[in-house]
Amino acid sequence: MAEWSAVKEAVEQALPFYEWISEVISLGLAGPLRRRAIRRLGSSRKDWVLDSGSGPGVSTKLMLHAGFERIVGLDPSLVLLRSTKASLTGNFYPIQAIAETVPLRTGSVAGVITCFSLRDVQDKNRSIEEFARITTADGLLEIVDVGKPDNQLLQGIIRLYISFIMPLVARALIGPRAGINPFKMIIPTFRSLPTNQALTRLVARTYGSAKLHQFQLGGLVIVEAERARVSAKPLD
Ligand SMILES: C[S@@+](CC[C@H](N)C(=O)[O-])C[C@H]1O[C@@H](n2cnc3c(N)ncnc32)[C@H](O)[C@@H]1O
Repeated sequence: MAEWSAVKEAVEQALPFYEWISEVISLGLAGPLRRRAIRRLGSSRKDWVLDSGSGPGVSTKLMLHAGFERIVGLDPSLVLLRSTKASLTGNFYPIQAIAETVPLRTGSVAGVITCFSLRDVQDKNRSIEEFARITTADGLLEIVDVGKPDNQLLQGIIRLYISFIMPLVARALIGPRAGINPFKMIIPTFRSLPTNQALTRLVARTYGSAKLHQFQLGGLVIVEAERARVSAKPLD
């Protein structure tokens, strides 16, 4: 719990420089992967969609630019929700909550997107079940996050990058502005991540099927799923 609070506070501390440093440490892919996932949700532009772990509002802002009209932004941090609400105009409805217990009605959203946030969620299985519960039949789930490759060699390379190179790069970019390096909190969240295939299986268990896309040697992933339509049983 203390570690989880530290992860949340780290994003609050990183607020002034979160977006551009995320872009650099993801080797320029954080933005394009968010945009790719948002494009997949495009048919739900006019419907309610959930941005889980909306945090500083980076993905929310891209969704608004893409013409989404009803975005619920869920995050446990009031600081981040307030700052996002103040920086965006209209169509953003913040709720302070966690992804394990989403305070939305069953079948109330057409899609869920969660960018660089599922890794911070302590009970990933429960949150995926919640995403499926609140989504309409045929609704989509888009997860964009740091990945943990199943291949041990690739996993070692990504662990090396996240544990040593990424914190150094982030520190050099932050400079003397922040006492601590908030990006270091990616290290414990990477440790507790399931591997890419395990995460895909976890999503498939609830959604019926799921598709994994891997980037940068599997260090970044998109996992996509469409809620299986429950077919009506024929009457005897
Ligand atoms: C790294 S930020 C990602 C922000 C944004 N989605 C983006 O595209 O960059 C992760 C966010 O997840 C939030 N978070 C942490 N634990 C969470 C949980 N259990 N449920 C939902 N969000 C959570 C944090 O407060 C933080 O704002």
